[in-house]
Amino acid sequence: MLVFAKIKSVQQKINSLKKGASIGFVPTMGALHKGHLSLIKQAKKENDIVVVSIFVNPTQFNKQEDLINYPKTIDTDLSLLKSVYCDLVFTPTAEEIYSNNIKSQVFDFDGLEHQMEGKFRDGHFNGVGTIVKRLFEIVTPHKAYFGEKDFQQLQIIRKLVQKHHIPVKIIGCDIFRENDGLAMSSRNSRLTEEYRNASPFIYQTLKKAKIKFGTISAHDVVQWVENEFKNQPLLELEYFEIADEATLQSIKNKEPKQKYRAFIAVFAGKIRLIDNISL
Ligand code: PAF
Repeated sequence: MLVFAKIKSVQQKINSLKKGASIGFVPTMGALHKGHLSLIKQAKKENDIVVVSIFVNPTQFNKQEDLINYPKTIDTDLSLLKSVYCDLVFTPTAEEIYSNNIKSQVFDFDGLEHQMEGKFRDGHFNGVGTIVKRLFEIVTPHKAYFGEKDFQQLQIIRKLVQKHHIPVKIIGCDIFRENDGLAMSSRNSRLTEEYRNASPFIYQTLKKAKIKFGTISAHDVVQWVENEFKNQPLLELEYFEIADEATLQSIKNKEPKQKYRAFIAVFAGKIRLIDNISL
């Protein structure tokens, strides 16, 4: 497994490997877990060469505290990547990516950026768009893999490549869960035992909401979920929304043939957890 920190060297290597070979790319912020490894395994099956980036992108954090506390586990990450036969790892510094100008580009994602996470994390999707576009320019992959846990991010990245004519096929991958249903996330490692034990309630509630959505209105499902969380002293519901998968807009009425998803954000103490389920 080759590891590069410089743009020039990673590009040279990729260009020399690329002749006729397909490149699969998994961008990450490190603190890798089984969810990331499942993306890499899928990329391995579908491509000749797999590139993983590890870069904690400063421009997508709206709170400095979150950026500082983001787990950094580079040695473990590299061993994990070796264990799944990753071919090439790109580990740039912020200076390498942004030079002296750590700033986001401003994007228009046709309104996707203003829904859900966009309402609570100012500038987050401009930061994600900026880094993903930059990484695609550097790595020039044929396919790139993203988990559906960040479903809004996935739809925004699809919009990014469509609007900017970037020749990368975006592959969305199923949410990887712990045995008790908690969606895997690098943030889970920061949960205290008490909050970790409380957090499977999030997915349990999503599964019940999915069943209820079959028989009652979206509005009533939302109310039911909000009430459920009132009885959970350790979990603070930030939002629960039922939205159209394509536009991410909250729905009032169900239409036949439309695809819907329920989205949730919850604070377990200071740790913010998100999840979603297809309805
Ligand atoms: O999902 C993530 O880990 C990040 O948002 C990404 C896509 C690697 C961009 O920094």
